[in-house]
Amino acid sequence: MIKVGIIGVGTVGTSVAEILRDNADVISARAGVDIVVKSGVVKNLQKDRGLDIIITDNVDDILDDSEIDIVVELMGGVDEPFAVVKKALESGKAVVTANKALLAYHRYELQDIAKDIAFEYEASVAGGIPIISALRDGLSANHIESIVGIMNGTCNYMMTKMTDEGVAYDAILKESQELGYAEADPSFDVGGFDAAHKLLILASIAYGIDAKPEDILIEGIDKVSQDDIAFAKEFGYALKLLCIAKKDANEVELRVHAALINKDEMIAKIDGVMNAISVVGDKVGETLYYGPGAGGDATASAVVANIIDIARSGKSTPMLGFNRPMEGNKLTLKPTANIESKYYLRINVSDKAGVLAKITKIFEENSISVATMLQRPVDENSANLLIATHIAREENIQNMITILTDLDFVNSTPVMIRIV
Ligand SMILES: NC(=O)c1ccc[n+]([C@@H]2O[C@H](COP(=O)([O-])OP(=O)(O)OC[C@H]3O[C@@H](n4cnc5c(N)ncnc54)[C@H](OP(=O)(O)O)[C@@H]3O)[C@@H](O)[C@H]2O)c1
Repeated sequence: MIKVGIIGVGTVGTSVAEILRDNADVISARAGVDIVVKSGVVKNLQKDRGLDIIITDNVDDILDDSEIDIVVELMGGVDEPFAVVKKALESGKAVVTANKALLAYHRYELQDIAKDIAFEYEASVAGGIPIISALRDGLSANHIESIVGIMNGTCNYMMTKMTDEGVAYDAILKESQELGYAEADPSFDVGGFDAAHKLLILASIAYGIDAKPEDILIEGIDKVSQDDIAFAKEFGYALKLLCIAKKDANEVELRVHAALINKDEMIAKIDGVMNAISVVGDKVGETLYYGPGAGGDATASAVVANIIDIARSGKSTPMLGFNRPMEGNKLTLKPTANIESKYYLRINVSDKAGVLAKITKIFEENSISVATMLQRPVDENSANLLIATHIAREENIQNMITILTDLDFVNSTPVMIRIV
């Protein structure tokens, strides 16, 4: 019999215990051994969890329990779970986590500590979608050309509502909070950080890239307005918060931002809270993964799959998928300044003669070529210029935005959205 200890019996932890109890028949048949939850740890002992397990408020009750084979970390945060997981691995216990923030910062340190001890984290990216095992195992024969994903259900729900129903950003954010999709402090989701944590995990498995959130381009959806949605619709785009990893020779670009995507692309059709990830391998071509990215049961489904795997073999494949560094073609992170993309800009200008000519001159001086331009009046004195560019360098766009912002006839910092 395999005994499990769950540190953090909240939304996901409770579902893990329930699945192991409710689906014990199929789980023990698949694992070849019975798996039971012995104990769980919470902060608030007064709250009834509805589970027939030992509940304590001291993590050491699990970490020091020699009967526990697998520690499941579902407490959230970074520093506390790092200490917990480190201690568990050092005492020879296998670990399963769903904690993307922990992995975004500490995955390589934890890999070094884990060595041959199983350390699994399928639920940390896109909840119930088995994208980690797809990348680490199913696609391991491929050089990965690109990963493009919708990996934050809250943002995707908000963008879908803004597009389909014309709801304003602030109103849909409030509704998402009421529905429990967005946290009271939503900046982690709408600022793109949650999605970035997931992208960094996938980048390690696909490319062996050791980057932290502060090393990559992360932007959220908080600047998107109905003007941008109208532009997207008029020119045949969908607007999504995308996670992008793209290999270019020996460099990999990693970025998270709102993006305009051709509405005929499969990923453009992913609506609501669902997640989807497109992975292109050099041999397999494009593969697409779709499913629930969050929710207690969906996330716990992936956690329990990891527990079953460990119960079957006692060992995991190397935690981040590489048994040794790649020889020769070592990949490095592309500097953000060198990223190339098409761009859309919304520039609010005073409606005066000569403004358009001055703006187009500034584009030219920054080596940015305009593909389409629309002018939309805002009131008697100002108008929005909606401009799509041809391929340009990120550095040039950023410089140009700084120049434009300082002009007296530009009324606010221009909004920029990349076109993918
Ligand atoms: N929810 C999802 O859909 C989802 C999806 C993918 C990944 N994840 C990840 O899964 C993890 C858990 O998420 P969740 O939504 O289940 O969180 P949650 O509902 O807030 O549960 C956290 C649990 O940890 C306990 N806890 C927190 N700090 C503790 C401490 N210092 N000592 C003891 N217990 C402590 C809490 O105790 P109390 O109950 O007493 O407060 C609670 O039971 C997070 O890393 C999250 O990012 C969640």
